[in-house]
Amino acid sequence: MTTPKPLGQLTPKAGIIANTKLLLNRDCNIGRDHEITRELSQLYAKVGGISSDENINDWDNVELDSGVAINPIQAAKCLEETLRTQMFIKGIYQCLLEKLSQKHTVNVVYAGTGPYGCLLLPLLALMPNAPIRVSLIDIHKDNTESIQRIVEHLGIGHQITSIECADATTWSPKSSVQFDIVISETMTALLGREPQVAIFAHLQQFLADDGVLIPKKVSLSAVLVPYESANLPDIPLGQFFELNRELVRSLAKGHQDGFTGEIVLPRSFSSIDYQHLSFRTDIQIYRAHWLTFGQCSLNLSIDYAGLKLEPGGSIKFCYRMTALPKFEFTFPVESMSSVLPEKTELGAIAVQGIKRFWHRARLIRDGRHGEAFVEREILTDIALLEKFDVSYHLALSYVCEYQPSFDEFEAWLLYTKESNSSFLTSRA
Ligand SMILES: C[S@@+](CC[C@H](N)C(=O)[O-])C[C@H]1O[C@@H](n2cnc3c(N)ncnc32)[C@H](O)[C@@H]1O
Repeated sequence: MTTPKPLGQLTPKAGIIANTKLLLNRDCNIGRDHEITRELSQLYAKVGGISSDENINDWDNVELDSGVAINPIQAAKCLEETLRTQMFIKGIYQCLLEKLSQKHTVNVVYAGTGPYGCLLLPLLALMPNAPIRVSLIDIHKDNTESIQRIVEHLGIGHQITSIECADATTWSPKSSVQFDIVISETMTALLGREPQVAIFAHLQQFLADDGVLIPKKVSLSAVLVPYESANLPDIPLGQFFELNRELVRSLAKGHQDGFTGEIVLPRSFSSIDYQHLSFRTDIQIYRAHWLTFGQCSLNLSIDYAGLKLEPGGSIKFCYRMTALPKFEFTFPVESMSSVLPEKTELGAIAVQGIKRFWHRARLIRDGRHGEAFVEREILTDIALLEKFDVSYHLALSYVCEYQPSFDEFEAWLLYTKESNSSFLTSRA
């Protein structure tokens, strides 16, 4: 009986296959199995000649009109985001098996291979006799040269139609092939920076009617998050954008619908407690294979804090497809006039100067110190706030941190005064 070799002693090809099988067979768990992708990374580097241990800053990105094509070292490092890599491999494997059960030949294009082609090439090595034909594209020549070496080493050349150094947003196949699967992972959270949308919008024209984009869906949603001290639940605002085949197909026809829109805020929520908006990115790779909130860098939340949002208002969004693609948001926030109200202007409390102080504090909070400044008024404000047993510093901090409306500020003053006096009474 022969004892199995430890993985570290296998040839690169055997090691790549063995480690890929481990990723396929194990459950996906955050923070686990990093040693598997670490070993894969070293094996690919040995064969392809590009190591993720090199310094990212020594290599250049390619800046396209449609987004940034990250440099080969940064792309190599993606492999070691274990959960990301594992989930993509599992999803792509399932999709390949399904297509193989339906078709004589399965045609695939993989746009943005990086130096290792790690989402697909090891699966071909697992199924060398499967009738799969693949076009491989990357914009960095160093990547395609590495891919060429890895393909040869894995002995999968017969499954490769072409390896091209090209821009996937303009590339066309040499023959009139219809692809069953288009694979591209050229994105960051909230579809920023990299050209995922432009690549899908271009390549969808070569997809068969029953073809699949991988990832199949990228769903973006928003959540109102309360201050931790408020001890309140999150308020989900729902999905506001979904990247999928229908959307990129209509984009390619020139329709921008879906790329602009509104997220309507609930009519009633405390705009003091909820000043934090979190935008989430959930990715369906294929079927049950999803990457969701916090699982990898593609699912990091993009947060906007310190917003004094108007209940019932609408957040406007627009996806800009430029050299730095990104979502832009316009928030329904109260904008303070630069003119301070007169001292005599009153609210619910018949004490002069409160509204003027509150307005000035809100301007200071927004960094508009010049508009807020009036010489010598600070002494008047200190005296005014003392009537409510509140220090100037505390009142200013309260307005700057919570951005209360004027009504809310008056209610806070009364509440603070009342709590102080009942505290004193109970101590007496
Ligand atoms: C995030 S990396 C992913 C690498 C690898 N597929 C993986 O998942 O580990 C994205 C890759 O896409 C390539 N890329 C980005 N935009 C491209 C474009 N328009 N045409 C071709 N390649 C592109 C980059 O050069 C980079 O290698």
